[in-house]
Amino acid sequence: MRTTDMTSWHPASWTARQAQQQPKYNDPAALEAVVAQLSRLPPLVVSWEIEQLRERLAEAQVGNKFLLMGGDCAETFEECESDKIAKKLKILLQMSLVLLHGLKKPIIRVGRMAGQYAKPRSADTETRNGVTLPAFRGDLVNRSEFTAAAREPDPLLLLRGYERAALTLNFVRALCDGGFADLHHPQYWDLGFMQHSPLRAQYQQIVDSIADSLEFFERVSGGRAPHEVTAVDFFSSHEGLLMHYEQAQTRYIERNKRWYNLSTHMPWIGMRTAQLDGAHVEFFRGVANPMGVKIGPAMTTEWLQGLVTTLNPNNTPGRLTIIHRFGAKDVENGLPKMIKAVKETGQQVLWICDPMHGNTETSSGGFKTRRFENILKELELSFRIHESHGSFLGGVHIELTGEDVTECTGGARGLTDADLARAYKSTVDPRLNYEQALELAMLIGRHGPKR
Ligand code: PEP
Ligand code: CO
Repeated sequence: MRTTDMTSWHPASWTARQAQQQPKYNDPAALEAVVAQLSRLPPLVVSWEIEQLRERLAEAQVGNKFLLMGGDCAETFEECESDKIAKKLKILLQMSLVLLHGLKKPIIRVGRMAGQYAKPRSADTETRNGVTLPAFRGDLVNRSEFTAAAREPDPLLLLRGYERAALTLNFVRALCDGGFADLHHPQYWDLGFMQHSPLRAQYQQIVDSIADSLEFFERVSGGRAPHEVTAVDFFSSHEGLLMHYEQAQTRYIERNKRWYNLSTHMPWIGMRTAQLDGAHVEFFRGVANPMGVKIGPAMTTEWLQGLVTTLNPNNTPGRLTIIHRFGAKDVENGLPKMIKAVKETGQQVLWICDPMHGNTETSSGGFKTRRFENILKELELSFRIHESHGSFLGGVHIELTGEDVTECTGGARGLTDADLARAYKSTVDPRLNYEQALELAMLIGRHGPKR
């Protein structure tokens, strides 16, 4: 059958299909030159890291690990700064620690980082005061200013994005290798502006309990180098949206006899680009990375079954993660039939919930926001629905930042609509702030399954 026949696949076979959400580059020669250059530059990640992640995700698929995916809705070139990157890494590490404590199983950490520069848009153009220009599609594509020059898709931005991704990854790797992610490192525990949080005591309790266990472990293991057991790994992910960028870093790895997308460890495709006969599915069926697919209320059971069998024809463990984002309102109606549909295929997938994108609304003051209570509710319902359908939720996908922003309402500090104007920084979707993200981890740790 066409979709599972690997003999017809090559890194550019997607070009024969309809590609949704792509910019219109007006200078094909310039685009080609950039893609050629990107194809020669060293890869951002390597295949053995990708395989390591896939193996861990395979363990999550059988309930032995839990996946935490998180980061900004969109990274920006401007925010490629040491402090912002370190803070984002820190909140993800702290969340993972809290989850480890609560769920009693290892946490796989995957950042929406080092490549999350392109965004799907609901319309190709934007009109202001009678002027129509191409929509802003993220820093990898064009510039946000509303002028014809800024909105013109610029192929050079693909290179600038690759460079920013490399700088980000380099810093993250150095921080992890240098002990930032070692459970003994004081930075790891530091609460920053959580000092005055209502959650402080609870967080401290978790930290103390882990420190105790660590000390106990070191005593019984006869002082074995703690780094061996306490160092953490960190993986990258982004939406695999812009086909030229994804293709340019895709290489054949002779040792594994497979093609890998070496721009990130774990790409995902959104539902807007998940057409079975579309370019994205064609491209991603041919790369060996573990990958995610987002599904929401518009997904049908036949479509999902088609995606599962096309993207993972050999039922490879760890290959496919389904990220559902129905919203607290629709999850009870939407999720059960998806679980049944995947069961019918006989395929093993990892189910995780993105409780952000189905719960977006507009605040009374006109801000795009999300309520903490709805985010939590969708998660709680998802844990329960999976359990009652002989499945389980094996991870979460969150939009968050390490900063003290006010973009989502609710949480222990009780942010209201009136607070949103104080520190609303996102130009895309509203993110959980540091404190809300940690609170969510504590609540998942308390309510999630311990299987
Ligand atoms: C996103 O993850 O930022 C996103 C655009 O999500 P979705 O495709 O699920 O709406
Ligand atoms: Co988003």
